Amino acid sequence: MEAFIRGLPKVELHLHIEGTLEPEMMFELAARNGIELPFADVEAVRAAYEFTDLQSFLDIYYQGAAVLQTEQDFYDLMWAYLERMAGENLRHAEIFFDPQTHTERGIPFEVFMGGFARARADAEERFGISTMLIMCFLRHLSGDDAVATMREAMPFAGQITAVGLDSGERGNPPERFAEAYAMASAAGLRAVAHAGEEGPPAYITGALDVLGAERIDHGVACEQDDALVARLADEGIPLTMCPLSNVKLRVFGRLEEHNLKRLMDRGVKVTVNSDDPAYFGGYLSENYAALQRALGLTRDDLVALARNGIEATFLDGGAKQRLLGELDDYSAA
Ligand code: ADE
Ligand code: ZN
Repeated sequence: MEAFIRGLPKVELHLHIEGTLEPEMMFELAARNGIELPFADVEAVRAAYEFTDLQSFLDIYYQGAAVLQTEQDFYDLMWAYLERMAGENLRHAEIFFDPQTHTERGIPFEVFMGGFARARADAEERFGISTMLIMCFLRHLSGDDAVATMREAMPFAGQITAVGLDSGERGNPPERFAEAYAMASAAGLRAVAHAGEEGPPAYITGALDVLGAERIDHGVACEQDDALVARLADEGIPLTMCPLSNVKLRVFGRLEEHNLKRLMDRGVKVTVNSDDPAYFGGYLSENYAALQRALGLTRDDLVALARNGIEATFLDGGAKQRLLGELDDYSAA
């Protein structure tokens, strides 16, 4: 089953590039940039990854991102992720980045966008992996900050496919970001948003109705509202779910309790993703494999999940059909 999962042609729709920073690279970049880390070694970093909720993770995650300074650092980060994923037959990824985490530290857009662009081009050429970028607004900051970030991003809009919304969810409803999302839409960008990870189902509804989100990132809380589940199913709104993340951040006590399969059985277009794999103990294949074991998923379930992912991408019809064809060939073989 694990070999079947590794070879399965997969897409990833919920992956924070800053969340792929492995402790080894954290130390390498800290040394390169003359930054002092509050950890003795790589083992001490890993030992600190015991989270009690989303915020306890975010505190460490934003601290880790401070080692990213130069264009080459952002190249190395993106390249390491894509090179690793070539070994898991990743075919396409729509990748989140958090510009405010970097601009707040005085790192301008040119620096991270330049590094990302170079690594993405190299991965497309070397591995045939296509990628898109989704720029996230940090929801613990203000709506005005998001608008200012959108303005700064305008010269790079051609490299960005969509906008998203992440960071601490509780007490930070989506409505505050309506103006930034409207600007993004006017610039031709698509929209997604984290909602219903730790927050209530109303944040999912707000993301759909006020922000125009076309996919919901996480969305596990929808299960508290039957009408919302029915709406997600009827309208074919994908959920980008991240099973290992949800256990690490204690959204579910155990993977066996995860609602992905229950929602799938109710007709919701659920997808499997890795969120922040360097922090949560597994990349995309491990998420599929852990879920398969915990929920007793069949090969047909796994293929259906991979298919949902492809259908939920922002790729055009032709590119989707090619990937669906690859998936059909793989599952028939
Ligand atoms: N930023 C990185 N990972 C996140 C998550 N799971 N939820 C909200 N913001 C995040
Ligand atoms: Zn996320």
